[in-house]
Amino acid sequence: MNQAKRYYIATFGCQMNERDSEIMGQLLQESSYSATEVMEQADLIVVNTCSVREKAEQKAYSLLGRLKKLKEKNSALVIAVAGCVAQQDGQRLLNRIPHADLVIGPQKIYDLPTLLLGQKGCKTPEVRTGLSPAFAIPAFLPDVTSGSQFKRFVTIMQGCDNFCTYCVVPYTRGREISRTPGDIVAEVAHLAAAGITEVTLLGQNVNSYGLDKATGAETSDLTHFPDLLRAVAAVAGIQRLRFTTSHPKDLSEALMRCFAEIDTLCPHLHLPVQSGSNRLLKLMNRKYTVEDYLDKIARLRGIRPDIAITTDLIVGFPGETDEDFQATMALLEEVRYHGAFSFKYSDRPPARAIAFADKVAEEIKNDRLARLQKRQEEITLEWNRAYVGRTLAVMVEGCGRTTGEQWSGRAPTNHMVNFAGPSGLRPGQIIMVTISEGGPHSLRGSAVMA
Ligand code: 5AD
Ligand code: SF4
Repeated sequence: MNQAKRYYIATFGCQMNERDSEIMGQLLQESSYSATEVMEQADLIVVNTCSVREKAEQKAYSLLGRLKKLKEKNSALVIAVAGCVAQQDGQRLLNRIPHADLVIGPQKIYDLPTLLLGQKGCKTPEVRTGLSPAFAIPAFLPDVTSGSQFKRFVTIMQGCDNFCTYCVVPYTRGREISRTPGDIVAEVAHLAAAGITEVTLLGQNVNSYGLDKATGAETSDLTHFPDLLRAVAAVAGIQRLRFTTSHPKDLSEALMRCFAEIDTLCPHLHLPVQSGSNRLLKLMNRKYTVEDYLDKIARLRGIRPDIAITTDLIVGFPGETDEDFQATMALLEEVRYHGAFSFKYSDRPPARAIAFADKVAEEIKNDRLARLQKRQEEITLEWNRAYVGRTLAVMVEGCGRTTGEQWSGRAPTNHMVNFAGPSGLRPGQIIMVTISEGGPHSLRGSAVMA
């Protein structure tokens, strides 16, 4: 009897990529492949890559390089490269990784099963990397029999039209393309019917959902993001709703009001600011000022005082002076983020900043990053300690590090909470936890006994 072929998927990068990997996994299972956790045992290895920063791209290439040995041992092994590096490097990728068989851009993942059929008996690598503004994201109901049984990602749009000067995404993911509200609500209803209670709506810039400029779809049959949020929140069974990522320039009053008006919308917003210097924000083509940003934060906190705000920051953007960097440090004090992801600027061709003058020396970038991260860690810890004594609704995710009655889960603000509780809790269950300790990365507490 023929044994089912086994696949292994390695995923780098953002939640969009995680969702794309799930889709590829499902397509493979529908084509009679079965998943393996052991890469060395796979007949097909998919590397879903990210190129947002130099480091992410290096990681993907380093794994791809290591796969050469496996291919030498097993010439029947199929190696597929998907995601943003695949899109960006296309045919060129094969010069560097000649042992790759398939190179698939983000809009082509649905072709994976057909491409695999084409690989049978043929050893010519295939490159599929088209990006079309007319691409329609297929309606695709997720497999609910495997994967998380309580929380899922739902992609609502792909691509980005903003062209921030440091960013490669508009080139790797193409123009903004929104899914129809009907497809999105049907997907969420399908998840809810299977018992999933938390969904995170995904897009590079969810605030401009439904405004696809490239397709000219302009609101006629597409809803704006706040309407979409309401439609998704109305699906019976959805207890927690989240979304990511937002662009500050598109954060509208209507969206802010959703945080007060939609009970199930979790009080957490990831709002990447990138820099605290107006001069750099302009060079980055961000289209807002620090003052606009602070005004939005203040209004948001007025609407939803318990909201946790997180951000992304770049240090060492070309031309960043000590003064610019000090302005970013001052912004940390002003906003007091619950958490921040911070990165050293890296050139990402063909993003425009590669040609900008006054590149910042590596030692200066390292020093600024260390200072920024140190201060942010202190602020995060101060916030985490401020939750001590409060009782939070925690969605159980699993058992904690120690066995017995130690559990872990997430608060509505997305804080990880480790807690002592009764035995027999199920993942996805919501339980009240009183916080007794705030650590650098998580909160600790005990379940409130009925
Ligand atoms: N260099 C450093 N960081 C970058 N990011 C995006 N492009 C670059 C780059 N060229 C960061 C931004 C973005 C996050 C996903 O990655 O902070 O919000
Ligand atoms: Fe990485 Fe951006 Fe591509 Fe996501 S969209 S995989 S973050 S480059």
